[in-house]
Amino acid sequence: MRTQVQSVLDEYHVRTEQENALMKSLSSEDFDTRIDEFLLPVGPQTGQLLHLLIQQAECKTVVEVGASFGYSTIWFADAVSQHGGKVISLELDAKKQDYATNMLQKAGLLEFVEFKNGDALDSLADISDPIDFVLLDLWKRFYIPCFDLIYPKLADGAMIAADNMRYPASVRETADSYRNHVKSHDKMDSVLLSVGSGIELSRFNGDTVEK
Ligand SMILES: C[S@@+](CC[C@H](N)C(=O)[O-])C[C@H]1O[C@@H](n2cnc3c(N)ncnc32)[C@H](O)[C@@H]1O
Repeated sequence: MRTQVQSVLDEYHVRTEQENALMKSLSSEDFDTRIDEFLLPVGPQTGQLLHLLIQQAECKTVVEVGASFGYSTIWFADAVSQHGGKVISLELDAKKQDYATNMLQKAGLLEFVEFKNGDALDSLADISDPIDFVLLDLWKRFYIPCFDLIYPKLADGAMIAADNMRYPASVRETADSYRNHVKSHDKMDSVLLSVGSGIELSRFNGDTVEK
């Protein structure tokens, strides 16, 4: 990892530690009210794993569904920068995307990211390239509708990583429904990994249905 990129990741890590301390002190009602203040990042272990997978498979088109303030975007942009790919980064909140843009610029990785602001369900409908890698990391009730939009656009061998499959426990039921939904597709192989907050890593084995 280049020093310029690592120092940006370190900046996020410091902010995450401060936010984790603050979040522990909040009631669940206060947390819900203030949720858009927080990074809620995938964390370094998941970032490192997904970076490794994207690089190893030389994924050209990476779609990040739920980018928040850009922590996972940094990992992905660095991974694709080494083999000429791109990240399509989807986020509802424009202020978070502005912050992410500055951080990507600081890391020297902005040219590898195409930001799309708005509801991911609308943005996904507009993506026409075959998709090689997806991170699902938005509010959990949207995982299944997003999967259904993404499925026809997957390139052969494409991977989908869905975060928060084990933590927080409050979303476990929705996460389990997502996992069952993926497994109901014959062309998907899928496994739960105990990395970070729990990742369902799924691979599409089939021809691209739609180009
Ligand atoms: C857990 S955070 C993403 C964290 C990010 N992947 C990272 O590692 O830094 C979830 C994000 O999904 C966004 N989000 C929720 N629903 C969305 C939707 N329908 N369309 C686009 N973004 C959405 C939220 O605004 C929030 O920033």
